[in-house]
Amino acid sequence: MNNSELCAKELQYEMNLYGKRGIALEKGENEFVWDVEGKRYIDCNTGVGVAILGHAHPAVVSAVRGQASKLMTCQSPFANEQRARLLERLCHLFKQPSKAFLCNSGTEAVEAALKLSRKKTGRKAFTAAMNAFHGRSSGALSVTFKEKYRAPFEPLLGPVTRMRFNDIESLKASVTSETAALILEPVQGEGGVRLATPEYLKAARDICTDKGALLIFDEVQSGCGRTGKFFAYENFGASPDITCLAKGLGGGVPIGATIAREEVSAFTPLEHGSTFGGNPLACAAANAVLDTIEKDKLLKKVSEDGAYMMDKLRASLSSKSQYREVRGLGFLMAIELKVMSKEPLAQLLQKGVLALPAGEQVVRLLPPYIISRESLDTVAATISEVVQ
Ligand SMILES: Cc1ncc(COP(=O)(O)O)c(C=O)c1O
Repeated sequence: MNNSELCAKELQYEMNLYGKRGIALEKGENEFVWDVEGKRYIDCNTGVGVAILGHAHPAVVSAVRGQASKLMTCQSPFANEQRARLLERLCHLFKQPSKAFLCNSGTEAVEAALKLSRKKTGRKAFTAAMNAFHGRSSGALSVTFKEKYRAPFEPLLGPVTRMRFNDIESLKASVTSETAALILEPVQGEGGVRLATPEYLKAARDICTDKGALLIFDEVQSGCGRTGKFFAYENFGASPDITCLAKGLGGGVPIGATIAREEVSAFTPLEHGSTFGGNPLACAAANAVLDTIEKDKLLKKVSEDGAYMMDKLRASLSSKSQYREVRGLGFLMAIELKVMSKEPLAQLLQKGVLALPAGEQVVRLLPPYIISRESLDTVAATISEVVQ
């Protein structure tokens, strides 16, 4: 079947949740993917920041192959070497005495963080930022901002107070002695690639400590090295009580993690859990991803190449009338336009570059960490061609 036949077939049988972008992807290698008609694209979409080592990375492929032929499932009451190793590494990366819970997606990681906050504090209320995205299960959706996503499913968890992002006065007014947790993305991803200021995150830390509320940093999109530090909050000098990871952690294999300071880890047996969470296949993939990030010094590369790319984009776009701003950190990058991003995104796809929106006027780039400078140059030049 060709691109349009496959899109039509999915639209026929899939619930009406996702529009299609007109192509069907068949395979990938490094920063490239190919559609079923043989056309090659540079992938700066990466399944919304999932394929952080690009596609078919030998370390991930070999870990998954090896583990698949050994043991794919192992219920958590039975220990497993891959899981034990991953848990230990995540807790060490968190740099505070901590405990982790493994699950299968970002939404689940957030869900566990919210439940844990209620359990630990005995409080019900949450505070979240305007334009935040935290997922779509009933709990995670409660702290997600977009009314359009929430309205059909009310009543959700509550009460939830929504504060302005990067506004310390709004923060002070929104976290009280009733608040179980404040949840924040250190860099808002879906909300348009907006960076928190260090002062704001430090104020969030102080206010939560003062009010006895927990501070959750949702690093589902910004974590696992995407900003050049393993956790984005490490760029800002503030640390949370709980953090959530998913997306890139398994390099394409579904996995999520909630990591909490040891004294916050208040769950007792069977209060929370997941059948697939911590399965050896996903843990093996995540261990291979973490090994490769370390071995190939990818955090440094992401920092340097992100700065390189944003400079390049600014230089080539600054004189264009449709251009507003380039912003981001590491490989979490956005080009804000003065026009809707839909048409430029479609043109980029036509010209062999996959990118994604983040709000109506933003083109977001989430390249794999292994992308070459040559491909970054091609992406920048293509963006310059499609922005007028
Ligand atoms: C910051 C953030 N939190 C949570 C989620 C939900 O993750 P998932 O789609 O894996 O459930 C996302 C997804 O985009 C996200 O960007």
